[in-house]
Amino acid sequence: MTQATPAAGKRTLGTHSVCPIGLGCMSLSLAYGGQLPDEQGVEILHRALDLGYDHLDTARLYGMGHNETLLGKTLRGLRDRFFLASKTGIYVEGNKRWIDCSPKATRAACEESLRLLQTDYIDLYYLHRHDDSIPIEEAIEGMAQLVQEGKIGGIGLSEVSAPTLRRAAAVHPITAVQNEYSLWTRNPEIAVLDACRELGTTFVAFSPLGRGVLANSVQSPEQISDTDFRKTMPRFLPENWGHNYGLICQFNGIAAEQGVSPAQLALAWVLSRGEHVVAIPGTGNMKHLEENMARHDWQPDADVLQRLDQLINQQTIHGHRYSEAMRANIDSEDFS
Ligand SMILES: NC(=O)c1ccc[n+]([C@@H]2O[C@H](COP(=O)([O-])OP(=O)(O)OC[C@H]3O[C@@H](n4cnc5c(N)ncnc54)[C@H](OP(=O)(O)O)[C@@H]3O)[C@@H](O)[C@H]2O)c1
Repeated sequence: MTQATPAAGKRTLGTHSVCPIGLGCMSLSLAYGGQLPDEQGVEILHRALDLGYDHLDTARLYGMGHNETLLGKTLRGLRDRFFLASKTGIYVEGNKRWIDCSPKATRAACEESLRLLQTDYIDLYYLHRHDDSIPIEEAIEGMAQLVQEGKIGGIGLSEVSAPTLRRAAAVHPITAVQNEYSLWTRNPEIAVLDACRELGTTFVAFSPLGRGVLANSVQSPEQISDTDFRKTMPRFLPENWGHNYGLICQFNGIAAEQGVSPAQLALAWVLSRGEHVVAIPGTGNMKHLEENMARHDWQPDADVLQRLDQLINQQTIHGHRYSEAMRANIDSEDFS
């Protein structure tokens, strides 16, 4: 895919240049532990635009339409100030959850997203998970139709492996892959980061703060509420947490030595992994929103990056990132 050279300090996302730090909006509807009051979400969104956030990431799944609705009503009339990404493909009804990336389902979902978002185009539309009941080629053909009709600007894939990405890109250019990536989740290093670089696909790192852990917002899983799904994640379980938190304390020490916050160090590490990488930290907290953007152009020295690499990686962290049940829906390569 031919991409334009990004503006200074920005990175390429499809035909746009965006700030390397975008805003993951999931927290505004589905914060770990509960839903944020709408008034707080509205304030966060307005302040985010003022701070220079120009890439907002949402999904139908976040609050089952609540997140798209919040963005739509809050940002109506401001559409030209940000790059809008949303996702489809995961459906939930009561206790039933399924994946459907068929062209028919995608079209219906896209039309509903456009309505909720109060816009006539979505810059980047992702398939939230790989649907192994149909060939990826068929799913991408459905998305390509939406591009042709001007409903979406580009196609994205989430939690996919490099082979799936390559098959998809043979049908239509893929603007972005959004997989989990942070110091403590290195799976994209197996193959996806390289495949993205080769194909001209931007890599969007989700949960770049390790779901808050690399921002030092969790000192003990006991402070997490029982409804917070991190509680079921193996890394947070008592048999792994003590060891993992020991590494996080050392990480916090490096942040202090560098004169930045742990969140700023974690984000700088992600952005150091390639010019084709952007990150979308999530927050429902005004101070954190400001902090995450404040040092987006800071680059740690090579020796600091090397120390971080050695301290926290797939060999040093104990426990899987997802529970067994959640791993069942994942197509992307995983360190076992
Ligand atoms: N494609 C997918 O399947 C997928 C999956 C998960 C997430 N995502 C996307 O990725 C975005 C971010 O992921 P995420 O929310 O899971 O994880 P994250 O960005 O790694 O971490 C978010 C957590 O960190 C805390 N935090 C943020 N900035 C902080 C700071 N400066 N200091 C202290 N704590 C801080 C937040 O709490 P506060 O609210 O208190 O700041 C929140 O608990 C989501 O919003 C969503 O858009 C995509």
